[in-house]
Formats: sequence, structure tokens, C-alpha cells
Amino acid sequence: MTHTQAPWDIVFIHADIATMARGRYNIIKDGAIGVAQKKIQWIGTSDKLQASPGPIADEIIDCTGKWILPGFVDCHTHLIWAGSRSNEFEMRLSGASYEDIAKQGGGIAATVAAVREASEDRLFNIASRRINHFISRGTTCVEIKSGYGLDLENELKMLAVADRLAQRFPLHVSPTFLGAHALPPEYKGRADDYVDLIINTMLPGIKNQGIACAVDVFCESIAFSIEQTKRLFTAATDLGLPVKLHAEQLSDSGSAALAAQFNALSCDHLEYLSLDGAKAMAHAGVTAVLLPGAYYMLKETQKPPVEDLIRLRVPMALATDLNPGTSPVHDMATVMNMGCVLFGLTCEQALAGATINGAKALGLDKQKGSLETGKDADFVLWDIDAPADLSYQMGICCVNKVVIAGKITYNSHGLT
Ligand code: NIG
Ligand code: FE
Repeated sequence: MTHTQAPWDIVFIHADIATMARGRYNIIKDGAIGVAQKKIQWIGTSDKLQASPGPIADEIIDCTGKWILPGFVDCHTHLIWAGSRSNEFEMRLSGASYEDIAKQGGGIAATVAAVREASEDRLFNIASRRINHFISRGTTCVEIKSGYGLDLENELKMLAVADRLAQRFPLHVSPTFLGAHALPPEYKGRADDYVDLIINTMLPGIKNQGIACAVDVFCESIAFSIEQTKRLFTAATDLGLPVKLHAEQLSDSGSAALAAQFNALSCDHLEYLSLDGAKAMAHAGVTAVLLPGAYYMLKETQKPPVEDLIRLRVPMALATDLNPGTSPVHDMATVMNMGCVLFGLTCEQALAGATINGAKALGLDKQKGSLETGKDADFVLWDIDAPADLSYQMGICCVNKVVIAGKITYNSHGLT
């Protein structure tokens, strides 16, 4: 081995490591990771490291008995919101559907009212608690969508909160503009006018401020049509903003194939994805983001076509979809368990979905999602016996330390 740049800032030694490079465990028994300048400078077996002469780092962390895995990349969340929708959960338990509740003015519209009412500071404080929790559960990179403001002022307010979270917390935040999440009440019956507002006013404003990395749309009968989605994607693409889509969640509308035409980063949900849609995604290299929390909470019975996606080699990511309506799920390990039990993923596929494929869905797979030389030093030390324990166990958190950009930012005693 060569490490002419030594001493490194910090070395983690005597850990079992699953690198997740190319989506596989790639296990290194008794491994070590050398970190400097926020990046992984070296990864290999501890014996090679010990053979080297002279000091190797300012700080050496003995990880005997622990596993090191890439930090979770949660590539689909709506984690900024105010208010609760547990009343809707109770309504659904009594037989109402998600669509029924949305048509009666509840659902997303209920959260829009609460978010418009809330100050930026209040939203920031509520979301901060969620981010702290995410880090304590091993998430080192998170996507955050707007979409509960639905006018320029309130969408910008949500994205400003996402920006403040990015400044305040060590984890990486990838903000997404989701102005086309639902029709705001003041545009009832005038969906095309609202799409015009997004295209002519909101998108240019968001682009100018540089506060969103991508544009998302909810394409569904209770949200926006294929035609409207196409107009929105055309406008976003013209501004140089990548697109992604809430696609085929409640019905098959052909929206995944449309997203593929625009080289979308990802299509998300996909319970009703057709074979043609899956082929279009494969052809265009679109990542499938599976959201088993929403599937579970809505008691959906139609599963995404996981076998087709695997056969067609479409990368599959898993995410919390954290939101107050369909997925109040705050933990990636729980999502991995659901991915295995409900969708039939292997534990290795679930971990790849929560790490490298999540990074792919955000266009960040060159920097994040696996443990390889030159990548960001974002990883988690776990008190587990095997990587599969994360998918297998429920309700326990085995995080020992969370390392983000080479710094220990959390240990099992709390934030450092
Ligand atoms: O991903 N499908 C649309 N959006 C969210 C739900 C948002 C809400 O109900 O507040 C989702 O499931
Ligand atoms: Fe969502």
C-alpha cells in the first residue's frame, strides 16, 4: 500500500466493512479506512495498514466488533411540514381511501394550510428534530422536497428551511422543488393556470435563487396529468434543472415512460409500473425509488414490479418518503425491512437501495453511497453481527457512531 500523504486525519481500524461498491456487500474482514480532507483516502485490510512504518493518522479509532457501512442516502423525503394527519390515518382505518380524503380537501391540502400558517423559524425547528433523529439512525445524506407551500412565497419558505438545515447540520441535503405536488385551493378547477404559474413564475424564481437541485411532479389523477407533467418537465429541462417523478403510485398512467424521455434522475413509488414503463426506465438509465412505507401505510396490495426491474437491471433505491400523510416513517432500517418483507428484496439489495442506489437517484453516486477511495467519508459504525441485521431487526437502533465528511458527528451517547 502507499500512503505518502500520511498522516491522515483519522483512521478506523479493525472493523468489518461492507463497501457496497457496485451494489454488492464486497466484505472486507478486519478492515480499515483512512480519511483526510473529508474523503476516503485508503480502504483495505488492517494488517496492510499495520505493516506501514511511522504514524498513520492523528486519531485512530479501534472498531473491533463493529461493522462499517456507507451512511444511508435517503433520496425521497417531504420532511418539512407542520401539523399532524393522524386523523386521516384514523379515517383510513375506518375505510376511507387516500383519494377520498384528498377529494374532500384533506390530504396534502391539509398540510399546505398548516405550512402556510407556520413561520420559517417554526418549520426549521420542527424539521431540525427530524434531521437529528435521521442522523442518529445512520442517515448521512437526505433529499428534501418542497411541495406543501404551493405558491411562490411558501415554496421559497420551504426551500429556505431546507437551506438552513443544510447549513446547520453536517449531513448533505439535496433540495427538490415540488411545486406540482397538488392543486392549491385558490386554483380549484384551474389546474392549467397553476401549471402556468409554476412555469412562468415559480421555476424561474427557484432557478435564480439556486436553491433546488431538481424538479419533481406528482403525476396522478388526484394531482397533475401526463400533459401537464410534460409541460413542467419541458420548462425545467429548458432551465437546466434535472427532473424526477412521483410516478404510477395509484394507477398506471404511462408517466414513467414520459419521465424516461426526459432522462429523469428517478421515478418514485411505481406500484402500477407497466413492463413498457420499466423498459423505458432501463433504456434511459432512470433509477427506481421504492417507497414501501407509503405502500404499507396505504394498505396497498399491488407491489412494484421488482422482478422486472431486477431483470432489466434498473437500479432500485429505497427511501423513507417521510411525510405526514402516507409515510410517517423516520428510519431507513425500517424501510429496508419493509423492502425485504413486502417487496421481496434480499438484504443485500435493500442495503444497496439505502446507500449506493439512493445516491444514484440523486445523481450523487460519484461522491456518495459506497466506501471507495476518493469518495466522501460518510459512514456508520454499527453494533451488529452482520449487515443483514439492519433489515432483519426491528425497533432497535444499533448505531455506534456516525461519520460525516470524515468527522464523528454522532455517537451512541448523542450528538458530538
Ligand atoms: O410521496 N404521493 C404524493 N406525495 C406524498 C404524499 C404526501 C402527503 O400525503 O402529504 C407521497 O406519498
Ligand atoms: Fe413522496
